[in-house]
Amino acid sequence: MIKQAIIPLAGLGTRLLPLTSVFPKELLPINGKPGIEFILDECIEAGIKEIIFIISKKKQMIKDYFYNDLFYKKIIKKKNDPRIIKEYKKILKYKKMIKFVYQNKPLGTGDAVLKTKNFIRDDFFLMLLPDDLIIKRNCSKSMIKIHNRYKSSVMASMNVKKSSVSRWGIYKLGKRIDKNNFIIKDVIEKPIIANAPSNKAVIGRYILSKKIFSRLSKQKPGKGGEIHITDAIQSLIFKNEKFIAHNFLGKYLDCGSMNGYIKSTLEIAKL
Ligand code: UTP
Repeated sequence: MIKQAIIPLAGLGTRLLPLTSVFPKELLPINGKPGIEFILDECIEAGIKEIIFIISKKKQMIKDYFYNDLFYKKIIKKKNDPRIIKEYKKILKYKKMIKFVYQNKPLGTGDAVLKTKNFIRDDFFLMLLPDDLIIKRNCSKSMIKIHNRYKSSVMASMNVKKSSVSRWGIYKLGKRIDKNNFIIKDVIEKPIIANAPSNKAVIGRYILSKKIFSRLSKQKPGKGGEIHITDAIQSLIFKNEKFIAHNFLGKYLDCGSMNGYIKSTLEIAKL
């Protein structure tokens, strides 16, 4: 069973400037609710019991959001407002599940994942990238089902426009397992169009084996000088580790770019 999830939150969020110049993008509201709460709710509904946040000193505000008890207690004493009490109880529920680790230099997603090495207890864990919201279906829950059946690593996958492959990790398709699940033969971080093995992209949900940590500790910086999780996954695939691409059924919303963030707010308002 997958009981632990990790969420890298230590990036700079430059694509959402100026909104992110002082404020972490993960706390930006999407139709009245901080983006990170959508991710936490997905984890809880999927049966996750512990969530590790990778933050940085610059993003301390994320921890403060969950540790503001004195403020809530004072307000509730004064106002006794049922809405505030309900919201505070929800924050307390989240807080109990979350641990924090720090990555003070944003050296890449792979480096962020490596920071959680000493916290992971089981052979497999879930990773969610908080910019990628998937609504209407719980993607983590269906990936955990696939993992339980095949005991392998799993990544969420989606077809993207050929012209946009250089924004994503793009994978090479292997054997078909069933309608929505395929073996992955290779994965390439942000390829140029000519080098892309397909138009199938990895989206921000991963079930990874603990073996990823030993790959990451040897991983050299890749595209843009960053240590990418995709490069460590590629080297595990080449060592015959089984990775399944799961074509998820929900709707993908990109909250990491300005256009995507605005569109996400409109989409979620329609739910
Ligand atoms: P991105 O590269 O998409 O996001 O990282 P970013 O760096 O925050 O944003 P831009 O590109 O400057 O706009 C994907 C996820 O990985 C985290 C980010 O916080 C984001 O959730 N991340 C990225 C880290 O935790 N550490 C890093 O070194 C890099």
